[in-house]
Amino acid sequence: MTAPALAVYPGSFDPITLGHLDAIARGCRLFERVIVAVLRNPNKTPLFAVAERVELIRGAVQHLPNVEVDAFEGLTVTYARQRGARALLRGLRAVSDFELELQMAHTNKTLAEDLETVFLVTSTEYSFLSSSVVREIARFGGPVAHLVPANVAIALAQRFPKA
Ligand code: PNS
Repeated sequence: MTAPALAVYPGSFDPITLGHLDAIARGCRLFERVIVAVLRNPNKTPLFAVAERVELIRGAVQHLPNVEVDAFEGLTVTYARQRGARALLRGLRAVSDFELELQMAHTNKTLAEDLETVFLVTSTEYSFLSSSVVREIARFGGPVAHLVPANVAIALAQRFPKA
């Protein structure tokens, strides 16, 4: 029996956006299972703690039965191997993403030859969207409901209450 085609979608997801969700949903059509993996990064001061980000993603992917959400630390390829993944999923929004993504994909290939990086071209309506843009808008009290899943919009409103 062959193992199910499993992909790991690694990232910071601080917080998950509709662009991420779009990539996850499309990844689910390519792979039997997708693990959304939140990196524990001691070098970054996030808006949401890892456990909060995991819960926010879980809340946002409830309609997708073949998605698991997890947290990991260390190298992405080590985690992906432990989970038996065949591929890493990453979204590509614009040419500006390409250089770093290509570097990461090549580096990961030197570390794990058998693991493929699969790039999903971000849907046009989300090509401008990033977690940092969302954080900035929310911090200054702007609307984010069109940019993030509903549960994330609620969490952002709680994090940045209007005076
Ligand atoms: O959402 P992000 O911040 O763009 O995700 C970046 C991430 C987590 C995929 C990348 O930083 C990563 O894989 N970090 C883990 C450390 C690692 O594996 N480094 C080697 C690859 S360059």
